[in-house]
Amino acid sequence: MLPACRQVRLGAEEVGYASTMSIPWWQQGAIYQIYPRSFADTDGDGVGDLRGVTDRLDYLSELRVCAIWLSPFYRSPMADFGYDVADYRDVDSIFGTLEDFDHLVDEAHARNIKLLVDFVPNHTSDQHPWFVESRSSRKNPKRDWYVWRDGRGANLPPNDWPSAFAAVGRAWTFDKATAQWYLHSFLPQQPDLDWDNPDVEAAMHDVLRFWCERGVDGFRIDVVQKIAKDPLLRDPRPAEPITWEDWQPTIHERLRRLRTVVDEYPDRMLVGEVYLLDLQRVLAYVNTGDELHLAHNFVFLHLPWDASAFRAAIDSFEALSSESAWPAWFLANHDHARVASRFGAEQARAVLLMLYTLRGTPFVFQGEELGLPDAEIPPDRVVDVDGRDPERAPIPWRAPSETGPGAGFTTGEPWLPLTSAAEELNVSRQADEHDSTLSLTRRLATLRMAERALQSGEQRSVDAGDDLLAWLRIGEDGKELLAVVNFAEDERGFRCPPDLRGTARLELSTDPARRSPELSLDDLRLAAAEGLLLRL
Ligand code: GLC
Repeated sequence: MLPACRQVRLGAEEVGYASTMSIPWWQQGAIYQIYPRSFADTDGDGVGDLRGVTDRLDYLSELRVCAIWLSPFYRSPMADFGYDVADYRDVDSIFGTLEDFDHLVDEAHARNIKLLVDFVPNHTSDQHPWFVESRSSRKNPKRDWYVWRDGRGANLPPNDWPSAFAAVGRAWTFDKATAQWYLHSFLPQQPDLDWDNPDVEAAMHDVLRFWCERGVDGFRIDVVQKIAKDPLLRDPRPAEPITWEDWQPTIHERLRRLRTVVDEYPDRMLVGEVYLLDLQRVLAYVNTGDELHLAHNFVFLHLPWDASAFRAAIDSFEALSSESAWPAWFLANHDHARVASRFGAEQARAVLLMLYTLRGTPFVFQGEELGLPDAEIPPDRVVDVDGRDPERAPIPWRAPSETGPGAGFTTGEPWLPLTSAAEELNVSRQADEHDSTLSLTRRLATLRMAERALQSGEQRSVDAGDDLLAWLRIGEDGKELLAVVNFAEDERGFRCPPDLRGTARLELSTDPARRSPELSLDDLRLAAAEGLLLRL
């Protein structure tokens, strides 16, 4: 059998792919994040569903994604839109059924697309039967499955930990029935599980097994750094606003045990949402080779649009990582403003070039392949407590002028308004335009699948002058590709290092105005925000 991702069909035509025998599937191409509520709705209730994902698998095949990561679709009261899980082993009826899920797995695998699901280990919903039991009495056997504590005095929580959501305030809620406080790192409806309790850990391991048995290829682990907390529940350390309670050595034993569970099944992968802003700490989750396979790099996500900041983040990953660590590059997900809104439309195209051509696995959030900006959400349509509605707006599949406001996402009333750019940036229109961002992404994805140098080649930084980020990818066969991105808002000249003189062939530019297939490296100028990929 062919290794997954080795061959993907585009219509009748078969593209020649690099031999991928020795590269793990999760290093070959992009992993595409689907936020199911906003991807495609098949039953007209205005909320996307699993059948919608299955219906669009051919679109994802044409994008040559290696895998999809599905944000939570489990049974949930939806206080945090699914990140509050009431049953880890069932599909919420708004998204479909377990049968729909099984069908999706089969159909994805039939197209050589792997499937990752979101594993939410830090907290459950307050409606989860474990918590319902836990809060029922201090003597309940599930009491110590969650973090219950006495306060420090009348109306004073056990410590000063804040919820990750500013609007929530403190991370503790007093429960009158049993006169104790419970910890919730997010909403009060998301009580934190107590991973110091081995029964909790065992139960969560069984959740992983349940989904592995159903055929998933791996997990994205939600806020994984939080499953080991300071046992003394100490107050935050000043100047470390995000990481105060999250730097516990026990995390590594717990990750090794999670890894052992998924290693009971062949070829499974773990990628962690390691929300730490210190790269050295992040790398401790992947450097030993027996914990996570990949860690999302939030240092990268928070960079300003500045070539030297990107240079430093990329080089420091290379400097701090061990042989077994592999980068996971992403600049967008369902929790952060979209790239086109943060950096600009042209910059969003350059970012795609960066993600696909840097050494590492690109993670693409649904809609980034279209260059979508955030949607404008009127105050009366706001639903998220933490301001994340704009990036979660549904995908425009077709022009609203043809289909109505649902833009091919739904025939009903979309749960969030779509971006006002839907008329120009919808999938159907971009699919037919050579210079669209969707066509650019398809070309990048095709190159990534065809070029061993882009998958596993060595990477060397190139000093090309102010405002330019440049790097070489060198394949085992000696083939070399040069990528350059201009971060400036106007034209910049490429300062050619002595060992790169001569001409190069244009593989791709993010600037549709660039046409000439041959370029002289001694005399190369990049347009504002242009990204280039050249063959040397
Ligand atoms: C992660 C998710 C976010 C969610 C939070 C709590 O950060 O990405 O959407 O609100 O965890 O589960």
